Amino acid sequence: MADTAHEIEIDALERPEPTPRAPLFHTQLEFGAPIPPASEIRLEDIDLVDPELWRRMGYWDRFARMRKEAPLHWCEDSFVGGYWSVTRYEDIMKIDIDHTRFSSSWEHGGITLGDPIEDFEMPMFIAMDEPRHGVQRKTVQPAVGPPNLKVFGPIIRKRTQDLLDSLPVNTPFDWVDTVSIELTTMMLATLFDFPFEDRRKLTRWSDVVTNMNNPDICPGGEEQWRQEMLECLTVFMQIFQDRKANPKSNDLMSLLAHGEKTKDMVPMELLGNVILLIVGGNDTTRNSMTGGVYALNKFRDQFDILKADHSLVPAFVSETIRWQTPLAFMRRTALEDVEMHGQTIKKGDQIAMWYASGNRDETRFERPDDLWIERPNVRQHLSFGFGIHRCVGNRLAELQLQILWEEILKRFSDIEVLAEPNLTPNAFVKGYTWMPVILRPIEA
Ligand code: HEM
Repeated sequence: MADTAHEIEIDALERPEPTPRAPLFHTQLEFGAPIPPASEIRLEDIDLVDPELWRRMGYWDRFARMRKEAPLHWCEDSFVGGYWSVTRYEDIMKIDIDHTRFSSSWEHGGITLGDPIEDFEMPMFIAMDEPRHGVQRKTVQPAVGPPNLKVFGPIIRKRTQDLLDSLPVNTPFDWVDTVSIELTTMMLATLFDFPFEDRRKLTRWSDVVTNMNNPDICPGGEEQWRQEMLECLTVFMQIFQDRKANPKSNDLMSLLAHGEKTKDMVPMELLGNVILLIVGGNDTTRNSMTGGVYALNKFRDQFDILKADHSLVPAFVSETIRWQTPLAFMRRTALEDVEMHGQTIKKGDQIAMWYASGNRDETRFERPDDLWIERPNVRQHLSFGFGIHRCVGNRLAELQLQILWEEILKRFSDIEVLAEPNLTPNAFVKGYTWMPVILRPIEA
């Protein structure tokens, strides 16, 4: 916890130790092995999808080198096959808005790298091209549109207040599970009108879907993964049928059940869209909630600035979302040959747009590695993507985070991070699995 200003010895919380795991591919690092600095490896050997790099935050120097020396980078040999990486802000933006030449469609491989699992394709609208994508996006948009957000505002505030009031002060606890997961899961249950007492099932499915190869979450590997996904499908099929039989309301399942183009979705498409909304609304906001606390501990002066002026909360939320970048990349597939930086991306090639790197591009952001609440271009981050797939839930995410921070600042003078957090061993969802903190109340 070298750069964190506040350090306290704690015995009260034991760090959950990740299960040692074998590399998934011959190019990957052994569990716990030293990570060589980017300057000591050949450019062509950089493979950003190695989970060990993400579990131990070993990617920043690789991104910096690629932005400088290989802004369009080809990795030939990896767990997910050959793939291009795009790491500069402007290049990511160009590809993200060029949906006629760069496809998101699951038919070409979707939005994550590698081949989809055989016989288990889950079409979802983030992984569709026009016109199908647009129609389905429009169907669910009202659930997170301005009138619904007006209704959600007071509900989110009340739940946030209750949760914060229930937290122990001056006693260590895990911020990830107690606050970030709990708040986002409550929000998801509301969006789906899912039985509130079963809400942790949503967390579980969200964790499982992106962690098939992570023995901490899915020790039974693909078989367990399939089984839990089918369980999710069974539960949601039931909810879908129930919503169909009842008058339309504004929860996500009801909107899908009554949408002209979604009411007859085949089961795997229903599962795909449910998973999209669960992961979209869960991991991302959750990791921003933890990322904000972590960042303020690294940049204590920013915490003082925020405490002195609560009107900075919206800017702080945007800056947290940039600094954290909860989804590290999105994949596209080239529909034709495209020239870039003197190289040819061939038709059919997969490309990772590394938002995590674009958000740290020094030609776009001054002092990119710092959390700087008053940065002039604070809203111009890439974390929500750009173009036709730009995050549909971005306003809801910002609302949840703003309310959380407004309520935190009313109650606590400090949230001290007590040890370096555990990180997700995952190149796609960039986040935290455990972070011990201690709360200090505002003295009366
Ligand atoms: C800080 C929080 C969030 C981040 C960083 C985030 C990030 C993203 C990104 C990067 C994309 C893809 C953009 C692209 O392909 O160009 C996306 C799409 C999407 N997000 Fe979010 N998201 C967040 C919160 C949410 C929430 C709360 C929901 C809730 C419902 C949500 C639902 C979706 C959906 C449905 C899509 C697909 C949109 C489309 O394909 O048209 N997201 N999000």
